Amino acid sequence: MITIKSNREIELMRETCKLAADTLRFIEKKLEIGMSTEEVNTLCHNYIIEHNAIPAPLNYHGFPKSVCTSLNEVICHGIPSEADKLKNGDILNIDVTTILNHYHGDTNRTFMIGEVSSEIKKLVEITKLSLDESIKLVKPGARLGDIGACIQEIAHDHGYSVVREYCGHGIGREFHEDPQVLHYGKKGTGVELRAGMTFTIEPMINLGKRHSKVLDDGWTVITQDKSPSAQFEHTILVTQDGLGHEILTL
Ligand code: MF3
Ligand code: CO
Ligand code: CO
Repeated sequence: MITIKSNREIELMRETCKLAADTLRFIEKKLEIGMSTEEVNTLCHNYIIEHNAIPAPLNYHGFPKSVCTSLNEVICHGIPSEADKLKNGDILNIDVTTILNHYHGDTNRTFMIGEVSSEIKKLVEITKLSLDESIKLVKPGARLGDIGACIQEIAHDHGYSVVREYCGHGIGREFHEDPQVLHYGKKGTGVELRAGMTFTIEPMINLGKRHSKVLDDGWTVITQDKSPSAQFEHTILVTQDGLGHEILTL
């Protein structure tokens, strides 16, 4: 069931999403070569707690940490670890989800550590572009297939592939609500957008082939061909006026 948020709920969504975005801005300044993803986790965890919120990933279906840290060939759901230290040329996705006043805010970015090769830098930039361009299409009357088609077209134009096993999602009192927001598809198809819907768009784009596998830890998703993968995520509100949308996690 796709719910339409009330004005009161939208206010609460704005607050939690602002905190999630602030957490990324906070951690961005701390990133440096040699730092472990465990340290990234601890810093984000403390920041979220200090702002009277809860890190949603912690214990979510048994996830053991407070943020996801996905390095290089890790597509998503990487588990922070003392053993994973940031190296020059790495790309690191940090995915933050906050629960504030019972509402979830979900956002991620892929950060470049030190000097990243031009090939991988371009992957990161195009992944960001695919999210930004797809968000521009969000307005009442548009369809989810328009979003998927836009992302797929941009990725394919650059010779990249789109991960299909994981998708964006409705969000609110629950972390993952209806609808599923696929990052591929056909223009003019799928659920029609209405003002008051809140959902994420979070394309995962691979330099190589699209296929993924889950490691034995039960969480870490990597590319089968070990090619690097980038991701960006925002939580979006569909609005009646203006642009037809508001990016809640800016
Ligand atoms: N934040 C992820 C998303 O964008 C979900 C992480 S689930 C976890 O939907 F359990 F791995 F934290
Ligand atoms: Co999400
Ligand atoms: Co997320």
